[in-house]
Amino acid sequence: MAINFYKKIRRNINEDGLIVGSSGFLVSNMVGKIDFGQPLRILEIGSGKGPFTKELIRRMSTDSTLDVCEIKSEYNPWIERLMKSNPSKKVKLHNSCVTELLTTANYYDVIISSLPLKNFTRMNDQNAFLYRVIEGFKFALSDGGIYLQYQYFKSNKSDIEAVFGKEMDKVDFVPLNILPAFVYSMTK
Ligand SMILES: C[S@@+](CC[C@H](N)C(=O)[O-])C[C@H]1O[C@@H](n2cnc3c(N)ncnc32)[C@H](O)[C@@H]1O
Repeated sequence: MAINFYKKIRRNINEDGLIVGSSGFLVSNMVGKIDFGQPLRILEIGSGKGPFTKELIRRMSTDSTLDVCEIKSEYNPWIERLMKSNPSKKVKLHNSCVTELLTTANYYDVIISSLPLKNFTRMNDQNAFLYRVIEGFKFALSDGGIYLQYQYFKSNKSDIEAVFGKEMDKVDFVPLNILPAFVYSMTK
């Protein structure tokens, strides 16, 4: 029993980059940075079981769109349940790697990401994939659009700043989360 629990925690950390799902405090901090008073094209990346998706769907207007990108289809039932109970909201689930959604320039007004960026730097191609993803964010974000990302340590803050060519607009610290997290806001 304890061994299974330990194995699950290890798998969560290695594959998803987290111990348990994000807290309501972290979700409120990040989603609270979005101005929902206008129609938005939103991209959420790495939804998992959907703590951010739920709040995004709740707050978005009916003339906004939300693309939810999650590479693992095992989380589909959670996201599909949210979509089903909010039929008036335009939400689409994509089971693909995020790079497949970052192909149109200046498209998204908001990119909100839970991607475990730190894990990408451990890959064989060193920083190449990490940079492809961050460059994709900048490419796909509209002028004036906002990219929101959390990390437990400020591991890739400087990589994001290097690609966007400027300092973060804001870095918040949210202690009430497992683990406590930093929230980056970067506008284009
Ligand atoms: C840290 S978890 C976040 C889950 C949830 N959003 C939360 O904050 O509780 C990261 C998620 O990103 C997904 N993911 C990892 N690499 C991805 C990629 N290249 N494209 C899309 N999703 C990816 C993982 O499957 C995982 O569900």
